[in-house]
Amino acid sequence: MSKGKKVSIIGAGNVGATVAYSLAMNGTCHEIMLRDRNIEIAKGKALDMSQAANAARMHTIVSVAEEAKDMAGSDVVVITAGSPRLPGMSRDDLLMINAEITRQVVADVKEHCPNSIIIMVSNPLDVMTYVALKASGFPKERVIGMAGILDSARMAHFIHEKIGYGAGQIRASVMGGHGDDMVPLPKFSTVAGVPLTDVLDEEEIIEIVERTKGGGAEIVGYLKTGSAYYAPAKSTAIMVEAILRDTKQIHPCAVLLDGHYGHSDVVSGVPVALGANGVEKLFEMTLSDNQKRKFAASVDSVRGMINVLKEKNFFD
Ligand code: LAC
Repeated sequence: MSKGKKVSIIGAGNVGATVAYSLAMNGTCHEIMLRDRNIEIAKGKALDMSQAANAARMHTIVSVAEEAKDMAGSDVVVITAGSPRLPGMSRDDLLMINAEITRQVVADVKEHCPNSIIIMVSNPLDVMTYVALKASGFPKERVIGMAGILDSARMAHFIHEKIGYGAGQIRASVMGGHGDDMVPLPKFSTVAGVPLTDVLDEEEIIEIVERTKGGGAEIVGYLKTGSAYYAPAKSTAIMVEAILRDTKQIHPCAVLLDGHYGHSDVVSGVPVALGANGVEKLFEMTLSDNQKRKFAASVDSVRGMINVLKEKNFFD
């Protein structure tokens, strides 16, 4: 248990509320502030979660930040605010709408939580992380996007489903942007240390790679009016916990590349160690030519979206 830690969550929809619930059930922090346009709904959820925390004999209090200044003193600010991805809508369709929302909420974070670490969750994830970086002016170590943990967890689940054993022992690796061209890395994935490539044949692995890439859309297809939230929220909570507890755990996260992997001025998913300072270390893995090509394609599509924003003078 970390003492006196405060986390604010902007956007108390399904993802934001489930992040709060997950943190409250683990006793990771003392104070969680929910901030949402719909104050009444946020109040109802906050009260409900504070009561759940008491049922679980946890000390976390969840309340509502009716004004931006109520977030002051936050160690971590999670941003989930944005229009959800609806059926038929690509993550990229959300670009302009969510860039504007991100800019507005990041201005509040900059003003009231200047020393916080921002975890970006809104889509399109990599671009929104870039927008949050630019809008906050925070050092790159303190603006981190959530996606790689989620995409890797999806891949791990699909592997488990396919092989029927090794639950909890699967380490799936996914890098690149949180988009249709994310880069699952079967060669870097193992089941309790046994290479995936020794467990499944090529055809099965291709199937898993494709299903991982469409993992978000598959759930949207079932839910119809919204997108996944349990796994996205748990993945976010894992990042918050690593930061607040200063564990230096390694997770794939979306961060600014500054010459890393040969790319600059763009955000993409790579393995990093998370701790009290945010990104404590960025790991550059040795990639095959094929992996490099796929990663470059993923980076390019994120860069394409950043360029759309630049062309519209969004950053001026
Ligand atoms: C997902 C969408 C929301 O991956 O990005 O679930």
